[in-house]
Amino acid sequence: MPAFAPRRFLFITGKGGVGKTTVTAALAHALAARGLRVLVTVCGAKERLSALLGAPPLDSAISVLATNIWGVRLVSEVALREYGTLKLKNRVLVDAIFDSKYVSGFLSGTPGLKEWSLLGKAWYHAIEEGPDGRPRFDVVLFDAPATGHGLDMLRVPKVIVDIAPPGVLRSDAERAWEMFRDPVRSGVVVVTLPEEMPTNETLELCSALRSELTLPIAELVVNALLPPLFSEAEASELSRFAPLHEATPAHEVLNSAFRRATRQRIQNECLARLGGLGIPIRELELLLDGAVTPDAVALLATRFAV
Ligand SMILES: Nc1ncnc2c1ncn2[C@@H]1O[C@H](COP(=O)(O)OP(=O)(O)OP(=O)(O)O)[C@@H](O)[C@H]1O
Ligand SMILES: [Mg+2]
Repeated sequence: MPAFAPRRFLFITGKGGVGKTTVTAALAHALAARGLRVLVTVCGAKERLSALLGAPPLDSAISVLATNIWGVRLVSEVALREYGTLKLKNRVLVDAIFDSKYVSGFLSGTPGLKEWSLLGKAWYHAIEEGPDGRPRFDVVLFDAPATGHGLDMLRVPKVIVDIAPPGVLRSDAERAWEMFRDPVRSGVVVVTLPEEMPTNETLELCSALRSELTLPIAELVVNALLPPLFSEAEASELSRFAPLHEATPAHEVLNSAFRRATRQRIQNECLARLGGLGIPIRELELLLDGAVTPDAVALLATRFAV
């Protein structure tokens, strides 16, 4: 069974620039093609997820991006007002509270509240029911900020559960935390590149997710892999001659081949180190034109089809 199939909440994280947004788009595409209703959620004003799915920019209200795919940009202030309205069931009262300068000072000065408002809203949509009592979405994808911030974000519900006094905030954080820790309903998708620094950081990230946060890791996506070009024998033969410092065209060709073989070796070493984690690995190839169009995303989505 595919690692994602029944999970309702997937948190996509990894180091900056490794392909989190691209993977979120490809995964949304693949899950929607299976007939699942997918909500993609992003933080931050500048987002490229919508363009990858061929849709207009995301708004703080949920909009349709494609067949079976909805999207929303998570904005702390909007999320907190929505949450207040949900709990107090009175929009006028909520607006009066939030427009008070004391309250806005309190909200902006409370550590973790901004992160929780974003993650909590995404979680809420993962458990939200439509008017017919069915889940509104089958799966919510959270395109998380780069590693450090993503981890800080995941720590917040745990901290609330550990230290907040009993009340609405804590009971919601408890429900969310219980869901995030349940491997049947949730999972973290860790994205990385087959290079040394991202691999080191990924090993640390997975260790923090497992031992500190005890969260289930659904998959490790190794993105932008080069296709193998040289056998081991060929690579070792190349290393007997290159790199060469003379600048004839023939030497340049040999040096290029050597650099390519070196990248291939590093890539294999990274895959072996990541394999040691014992987490299912999904490989996505490097697209030479970049992964910037809906067609490229559709191609990468086929890698999630199995
Ligand atoms: N498989 C791939 N082949 C080629 N280019 C890729 C691939 N995956 C991602 N890219 C390119 O790498 C760049 C970074 O990708 P992306 O924006 O998805 O990363 P990110 O982890 O979301 O970055 P950030 O941390 O800034 O949010 C983009 O220009 C994207 O088009
Ligand atoms: Mg991104």
